[in-house]
Amino acid sequence: MSMGSDMYRQQILDHYKNPRNHGELADPTFSHEGFNPSCGDEIEFDVELADDGETIENVAFHGDGCAISQASASMLSQKLPGMTLEEVDELDRDDVLDMLGVEVTPMRIKCAVLAEKVVQDGADIYRGEKDVEQTSTEDDE
Ligand code: FES
Repeated sequence: MSMGSDMYRQQILDHYKNPRNHGELADPTFSHEGFNPSCGDEIEFDVELADDGETIENVAFHGDGCAISQASASMLSQKLPGMTLEEVDELDRDDVLDMLGVEVTPMRIKCAVLAEKVVQDGADIYRGEKDVEQTSTEDDE
């Protein structure tokens, strides 16, 4: 992977080694998992919504994967509480890359966006807008 600066590299390694919100929620509103087919790495997110059924109150994730995929999940888990599902829908790869703060090679884009896709698909499934068992980053270029 090509890294922009030492500061961001350190931040990614820190999130990888000490993932925030790692684990499972006792009573999630919805859970969803996804994988990166090019390597088999996986991430599962638990999401708890507030009483309005729209605002994220709490999240937890666990999984197995490279530094980029796990750091991206950890960083996303800090960003999600307080966001509405609609706002989550609007996240795109540029938001993820901004969050990571490094240049990511095309191969590694799938690692970077895995967590974001998992949460977006989980939200879509919860709202009955999608029906997939597992999210795959296969369709990403
Ligand atoms: Fe598998 Fe990055 S190498 S998610």
